[in-house]
Amino acid sequence: MTMELLRIENLCKTYGKGENEVKALDNVSFTVPKGQMAAVVGPSGSGKSTLLHILGGVDRPTSGKVYLDGQDVFAQNAKNLAIFRRRQVGLIYQFYNLIPVLNAEENITLPVIMDGRKPDAKQLEGLLEMLGIKERRLHLPSQLSGGQQQRVSIGRALFTSPGVILADEPTGNLDSKSSAEIIELLRKSNRELNQTMLIITHDENIALKCDRIITISDGKITADRLTGQGGVQNV
Ligand SMILES: Nc1ncnc2c1ncn2[C@@H]1O[C@H](COP(=O)(O)OP(=O)(O)OP(=O)(O)O)[C@@H](O)[C@H]1O
Ligand SMILES: [Mg+2]
Repeated sequence: MTMELLRIENLCKTYGKGENEVKALDNVSFTVPKGQMAAVVGPSGSGKSTLLHILGGVDRPTSGKVYLDGQDVFAQNAKNLAIFRRRQVGLIYQFYNLIPVLNAEENITLPVIMDGRKPDAKQLEGLLEMLGIKERRLHLPSQLSGGQQQRVSIGRALFTSPGVILADEPTGNLDSKSSAEIIELLRKSNRELNQTMLIITHDENIALKCDRIITISDGKITADRLTGQGGVQNV
């Protein structure tokens, strides 16, 4: 039996008012078992990033609930929500969100330092090695290519070893060889730490490497399938 780690209930997110109103998420419900690596796919503007930001606690739903490990995420006070963001989830943003005045290594270790812990030097070495950015560790984001900045942002999310990884097009700026490497890296972390992952992608090959493919269109889930040995099957 697999344990349910994430429960999303009737999630709605509306931006703007009146004529400008946009229903980015329209009554979305699903659950994710612990350790599952799921892809989230769908057209541009369908609500994928909105969903991920809410699950990561950086944006609030208009209505609906998110439970992580049985805990109502948005019922927490601001202080506990900040701790939740720091400890429980690793968010990989579509546009990296690196801190421009910090170098690669400092960006990766910042969440651990903010949490009052001492970064583990050996773990950092291993991560920089795996990400292929060891020679760039002292470079500022502005001195890195898009793909290298993307690797730094992935490193930052993995370094705290969170139970949940939420990635917004983590391979969007990489060539197909680097993309395959990054997905292998995420898969390795997923297996080793039994991490639960949601990965937004436009790449069919990446989606097929995940355990499940959730399709969103116009703020609604329109398909939900498990991949695997026997091909793709409906949930
Ligand atoms: N802060 C905002 N204010 C107003 N509307 C917004 C805001 N953020 C997103 N939207 C709208 O909500 C809808 C969903 O946006 P979202 O960024 O979640 O799409 P997406 O599926 O991630 O698209 P893409 O694949 O292009 O990244 C879009 O119509 C977008 O214009
Ligand atoms: Mg997006």
